[in-house]
Amino acid sequence: MTRFLSVADYERLAEERLEPGPWAYLVGGAGDEWTLRENCAAFERWTFRPRVLCDVSEISTATSVLGTRIELPVVVAPVAYQQLYDPDGECATARAAASVGAGMAVSTFGTRTHEEIAAAAPGLLQWCQLYVFQDRGFTREHLAGAADAGCSAVVLTVDTPRLAQRERDLRVGFEIPPDLPLPYARGAVGATPGNPADQFALLDASVSWRDLEWIASEGRLPVVLKGIVTAEDAKLAIEHGAAAIVVSNHGGRQLDGVPATLDALPEVAEAVAGRVEVYLDGGIRRGTDVAKALALGAHAVLAGRAPVFGLAAAGEDGARHVLELLREELALTLCLLGCSSPKELTPAHVQRVSS
Ligand SMILES: Cc1cc2nc3c(=O)[nH]c(=O)nc-3n(C[C@H](O)[C@H](O)[C@H](O)COP(=O)(O)O)c2cc1C
Repeated sequence: MTRFLSVADYERLAEERLEPGPWAYLVGGAGDEWTLRENCAAFERWTFRPRVLCDVSEISTATSVLGTRIELPVVVAPVAYQQLYDPDGECATARAAASVGAGMAVSTFGTRTHEEIAAAAPGLLQWCQLYVFQDRGFTREHLAGAADAGCSAVVLTVDTPRLAQRERDLRVGFEIPPDLPLPYARGAVGATPGNPADQFALLDASVSWRDLEWIASEGRLPVVLKGIVTAEDAKLAIEHGAAAIVVSNHGGRQLDGVPATLDALPEVAEAVAGRVEVYLDGGIRRGTDVAKALALGAHAVLAGRAPVFGLAAAGEDGARHVLELLREELALTLCLLGCSSPKELTPAHVQRVSS
């Protein structure tokens, strides 16, 4: 793997390896893809303010999320249909995450069960990402099954009452293969093939804050609310029982025109004021990106496309190396900033580039 020195190297190889459909689905965003580009561009608008002579002889990248230790402040974001990228799908990603001590959230549109994933990757910090179907029976079963399988949190994604128009998918005519196993969604969406929009049409667009209360009380697991970009919703999330918040715009795949998540993070972190943990996703490609997000108030980050570029390029080894790259780059960044652990990062370590 020595040829591969950065996430971008894996992205290039993934593009070579994948058919046009799965590639479009992986890299695409909504509408003009402005938000998609912004997620990455926002990291370039911040520079570092390193401190020196801080004794950085020992660096730890470890932290904890919802009380559980992880070796780097990175959780693999829920990414649907991972068997499109590797025959072992989520199990390969899970083994990679477990071996480096990262966490992983498993999509409702995953291709492996929580039990299979837990068995493949003992010790993994495993979360269950939840979409609420119109048929609440499926959602209840999904929630109960996740807790039984050892998931330690539910990630309720709230930015997807409808799937946005993703023109790249439409241009290449991307369709979900009809034989893709979807243990938590097939019951609801049936055996019909279709583009992702057809499958997501069965989600319940009437979901409201009351449902968050229902899921937080009925489910046995803490609820991480994913898809918050405003102070108003961050406050409501806490009032209605969220245990943590992910500042996320779905990787630029839902409402085109919302700000980069790094730009939304300070307002959310300020509104939350330390009452619950705040995570960020969107555009994480480097350890320096992780450090900037943490400095601006995130407790940890979720990474979606980056590990999946590794998975598509080189299977489990590729996903593992991507996570190792993020860990090593973060360790180096911490060291050169004068911090010996993630919790020492503060807003004083970054500065917005003046325009
Ligand atoms: C191919 C793909 C599939 C995704 N599927 C889901 C999903 O099933 N559930 C969900 O909550 N988010 C999903 N997301 C969004 C990610 O969880 C995450 O918010 C986003 O990828 C973060 O941006 P990044 O890819 O730049 O790291 C998906 C993202 C991608 C790229």
